[in-house]
Amino acid sequence: MSILVLGGAGYIGSHTVYELIDAGEDVVIVDNLQTGFREAVHPKAKFYEGDIRNREFMDSVLEKEDIDGVIHFAASSQVGESMKDPLKYYSNNLCGTEVLLESMVAHGIDKIVFSSTAATYGEPESIPIVETDRTLPTNCYGETKLSMEKMFKWTSKAHNLRFVSLRYFNACGAHPEGMIGEAHNPETHLIPLILQVPNGQREYISIFGNDYDTEDGTCVRDYIHVNDLAQAHILALKYLREGGASNIFNLGNGVGFSVKEVVETARKVTGHPIPAKEEERRAGDPSTLIASSEKAKEVLGWKPQFDDLETIISTAWKWHQSHPQGY
Ligand code: UFG
Repeated sequence: MSILVLGGAGYIGSHTVYELIDAGEDVVIVDNLQTGFREAVHPKAKFYEGDIRNREFMDSVLEKEDIDGVIHFAASSQVGESMKDPLKYYSNNLCGTEVLLESMVAHGIDKIVFSSTAATYGEPESIPIVETDRTLPTNCYGETKLSMEKMFKWTSKAHNLRFVSLRYFNACGAHPEGMIGEAHNPETHLIPLILQVPNGQREYISIFGNDYDTEDGTCVRDYIHVNDLAQAHILALKYLREGGASNIFNLGNGVGFSVKEVVETARKVTGHPIPAKEEERRAGDPSTLIASSEKAKEVLGWKPQFDDLETIISTAWKWHQSHPQGY
């Protein structure tokens, strides 16, 4: 039987496919290549180009393939864009998931692991954030992800289906061997933008806000390596295969780094002075987001391997140096 990976040509999806194949799984990928890349598709995976909102297409894949479980990454994921074009987020993230669930239920597929986000919490009540904390998204992206979680909850109550929702904090880094990595167009994430400076593509990095209530005034985030996220999906699948109940887990390292600390670490890794310019706050940024991942550690047995920011940035640097224009 195979694992169906939706969005397996995207950043976190492609890294998960590489880990699944290393773990001996057969993998089928569906991706519409809207933000994913053909080059990121693992050569041993079976690939279908198509959109999860297309019921006929989804049914045809589920009829042809013998699918044991689904891992679902196929969603739009940019906070800024979600505020300008909310309906795109409702369409891709919610309508897409609704069609997917209809097709899964019709074909008797009963296990799904899917990407959720720290953005479901909004401005945190306390740090570190635990899964039972209040969820009050401050952007449309987080709102659609929270609604997806609820769609899974009610569907799992009505049908024979169990889910695991993984709430990622700041995904970063690249496969340590350097063949796949992070490529977004446009890029909005801090680490790839910083690395554009030593790569000669940007003169300086902008620091958005220096007056937050943090030690150095810049925002603090919990940076978690993409391969550690990939491992969590494999463990979540194992948990569901062993009969685990539907569940939600945070995924982060539990350590916060400020924007200035990330820039400083990138200077160390690259040996480049990386000029920085302090600018206005970016709208909608919470000051501090740090995960408690104790639940994932206890229940899934997850143990992040890349808990050191220098190593994480080194893997990203290896990728960006060899692929300055992405794929
Ligand atoms: N930042 C800068 N300069 C830049 C880019 C980013 O200072 O050029 C800052 C941001 O203001 C933020 C931090 O760097 O304080 C990290 O920003 P990212 O855009 O890399 O990541 P976010 O924390 O905004 O986003 C992440 C995930 C989203 C998720 C969000 C939850 O990528 O999917 O956390 O708030 F929704």
